[in-house]
Amino acid sequence: MDSLSTIGENHGMTRYELHHANCFEWLKDQPANSFHGVCTDPPFGIVEFLPHEMAKMRSGRGGVWRLPPTIGGSKRDPLPRFTTLSDKEREHVQVYFRELGEALHPVLVPGAHILLAGTPMLQHLVQMGFAEAGFEVRGAIMRLYRGFRGGDRPKLAEAEFPEVCVTPRGNYEPWMLFRKPIGERTVAENLRRWGTGALRRIAVDQPLPDIIQSGKTPQIEESVFNHPTMKPQHLLRILARSLLPTGEGRILEPFAGSGSTIAACEAIGYDSVGIEVDDEYFTALEPNIAALSALYPTFKGQRLELDPQSDQLSNKRQQRSQRGIQSALL
Ligand SMILES: C[S@@+](CC[C@H](N)C(=O)[O-])C[C@H]1O[C@@H](n2cnc3c(N)ncnc32)[C@H](O)[C@@H]1O
Repeated sequence: MDSLSTIGENHGMTRYELHHANCFEWLKDQPANSFHGVCTDPPFGIVEFLPHEMAKMRSGRGGVWRLPPTIGGSKRDPLPRFTTLSDKEREHVQVYFRELGEALHPVLVPGAHILLAGTPMLQHLVQMGFAEAGFEVRGAIMRLYRGFRGGDRPKLAEAEFPEVCVTPRGNYEPWMLFRKPIGERTVAENLRRWGTGALRRIAVDQPLPDIIQSGKTPQIEESVFNHPTMKPQHLLRILARSLLPTGEGRILEPFAGSGSTIAACEAIGYDSVGIEVDDEYFTALEPNIAALSALYPTFKGQRLELDPQSDQLSNKRQQRSQRGIQSALL
């Protein structure tokens, strides 16, 4: 495909490229060593963004997408339920991520990092796939936020087992970290030659932590575009910024969705490239990126605190639950 490729022609000073394509096909045509980092939020269970599942999600009926229970009268967005995956689909997850790793490997410079959003239930399969593709597994950065997964009593026996939950209630999202092995003798030499091999600190006296206090995507961001899995600018700007340790290079987001990662790169002042296969999402990318990157103009991912302008701060229930998570960690 790649029916429309926007390379800053109509963008004035913007620094991104967008491609309407299947990223696996698109990656085959890219020159070696052309990206310095990947910040991405791929389909977790693979099946949820296939056309038949998307049709079910858009019509609100059946499939892997479910509507979480209404809480306090407020309408919830659909969430994919990964417990419904069959053994074969689980195997497919690992193969899918091995193939994604194999497609990314040649286009990344030595020492380039990948930050990839996942779900605790499938994390091991993603890590095995990337390891098989030749990447180093470098742990994960935990986004702490109150999700809506898990914590339920056994279905249709809730009253019988009031003290039971089938899985723990989800309070984090792992952003798995991978590195293409460095090509030089030391990290310092790799940094000098390729600008990669390490991560950018939050500040000179503050390393990047592996837990980031986050929150639900703020209303002001969700009102820009209705994408079921839009990630918050606060988190994305911190993560994307960390991928270019010297501030030089180009970030790839092969699953652009609403354009939130590209908007984060734009806000920071990083060059980036976004790929999106879905027609509706691709068409909305440019206006979404313009609107999202214009939010919180002083926040460029260079501190961990939430931006005072963000309604992540004004959501009282969210704040209470974040305090609960924090105190549980102490
Ligand atoms: C989990 S969503 C990304 C959401 C994004 N992080 C955001 O904040 O809006 C994954 C996206 O990848 C797209 N996608 C799925 N398979 C793809 C492929 N092979 N190539 C390019 N895009 C793909 C889907 O249409 C979907 O929009």
